[in-house]
Amino acid sequence: MTQVTFLLNGAPVCVTPANPSQTLLDYLRETAGLKGTKEGCNEGDCGACTVMVTDAQGARALNACILFLPQLQGKAIRTVEGLTGPNGEAHPVQTAMIAHHGSQCGFCTPGFVMSMATAQLNGDADHDTTLAGNLCRCTGYAPIIRAAQAAQTQPVPDWLNDASFIRAQISSGDPKGAESPLGAGGFGGASSPPVFRPASSDALADWYLANPLATLIAGATDVGLWVTKQLRDLGPVAFLNGVTDLQQIERQGALVHIGAGVTVEALRKALLPLHPSFAAMLQRYGSTQVRNAATIGGNIANGSPIGDGPPALIALGATLHLRRGGDMRSIPLESFFLDYRKQDRRAGEFVAGISIPAQAPALRCYKISKRFDQDISALCGCFNVTVDAGQVTAARIAFGGMAGISKRAAHVEAALVGQPWSLQTLKAATAAFAQDFQPLSDMRASADYRLLTAQNLLTRYFHDLSGQPVSVQQVHA
Ligand SMILES: Cc1cc2nc3c(=O)[nH]c(=O)nc-3n(C[C@H](O)[C@H](O)[C@H](O)COP(=O)(O)OP(=O)(O)OC[C@H]3O[C@@H](n4cnc5c(N)ncnc54)[C@H](O)[C@@H]3O)c2cc1C
Ligand code: FES
Ligand code: FES
Repeated sequence: MTQVTFLLNGAPVCVTPANPSQTLLDYLRETAGLKGTKEGCNEGDCGACTVMVTDAQGARALNACILFLPQLQGKAIRTVEGLTGPNGEAHPVQTAMIAHHGSQCGFCTPGFVMSMATAQLNGDADHDTTLAGNLCRCTGYAPIIRAAQAAQTQPVPDWLNDASFIRAQISSGDPKGAESPLGAGGFGGASSPPVFRPASSDALADWYLANPLATLIAGATDVGLWVTKQLRDLGPVAFLNGVTDLQQIERQGALVHIGAGVTVEALRKALLPLHPSFAAMLQRYGSTQVRNAATIGGNIANGSPIGDGPPALIALGATLHLRRGGDMRSIPLESFFLDYRKQDRRAGEFVAGISIPAQAPALRCYKISKRFDQDISALCGCFNVTVDAGQVTAARIAFGGMAGISKRAAHVEAALVGQPWSLQTLKAATAAFAQDFQPLSDMRASADYRLLTAQNLLTRYFHDLSGQPVSVQQVHA
């Protein structure tokens, strides 16, 4: 039987999961007897199940409800039960939550303190962002933010030493700390479907070619919900989070290559100096916990028409790299999306990475959703228009949420190119939106709202490029 080894609240544990999609939350509450970690939504939305996970990259807050046990091989997990010191000393965030009255019914509190403890450890004082994935129904956020600010002034307790333990395990070559493939055996007995945890993209390519019907699991922020909400049996699976060569971001001349396994949070940080508008949009992608898990490869491969990554990448003119066995091919990202949930991906082929220009000063990305944080886009418009001597010389405009796929606004682009960059030109181009898009009405927005908002976003883009304030968080008289 295949085992998963990790550090739980400072103690090594070796677990044989009942099946490869057993979640950490279920394990903690039902097997380990650690019921401090709460189940709220069971779909990554509320943060009640937040735990701290540490590996060679550092400590991250993650949602335990959509984290499968095999994703934790070689990592260190802290739950709320593991926050206190060896003699019962409270962690500074716990002390601060008491002092600032940050808890009423207490259901959300373990999740909050784990997000706060992770932020405190990482020196991250942007509490609005680090706590956007934790929902509280009764206390109100002001006392919680005050507690987070107070805790930030205190030293990180020396008993939270998971990072040094992980580093020591890796340097000593101990497999408990290092990533290691689980082999082709299944969990729970020889008759169970194959489970693979490759350590390289070469190993993944060979295995996937031989098992083309398998489900690839990267961050599990989509696949997790197939299990917790749709109760799906995943069959054969490969866990990609040990494939470190797919997790690199590299500058290659005028391009940046981004591996499929790069998390949205790592991408956001890398894009800050290069494409600040894209990075700002990604800050509104899910929550800190979701961004810490979700990968850009998963965001592209799932083909969701409301995914936030593809419109921005298409507007940038991204090239998608696909691999099947030893064969690599590269295509423009927009040609990958064929129809609703239908992608140009052959059996046994996986997303290896994506290349984008390192510079695109005119790129702007606008996410429209009912809530500012932690919400799925009603639509997402991304614009990259080149203006030379007052004339539009090139335009790449892409939208999510306006069609069954992420799609370029080809007619709008054609109406702009060759014209003076002016409000008159924009007005004339407005009608072309209806040629490009016939959006749907659904719970997020009506078709009319989507079309009108897409048109208005072009005007917003014009003002944005002219240096006028367009942030929806600023009010101007
Ligand atoms: C609470 C919550 C909030 C969210 N908010 C947003 C949001 O604001 N914006 C947004 O765009 N999305 C959002 N999502 C959706 C989700 O985070 C993304 O689609 C995510 O990028 C998927 O990446 P993943 O690594 O978790 O993929 P997984 O769930 O692991 O996989 C998703 C799909 O991609 C396939 N796959 C993964 N990697 C590869 C690969 N390398 N090659 C081929 N196939 C692959 C899997 O087999 C599966 O079909 C949210 C999800 C949750 C749960
Ligand atoms: S239980 Fe809500 S995010 Fe996990
Ligand atoms: S204290 Fe009750 S939900 Fe937050």
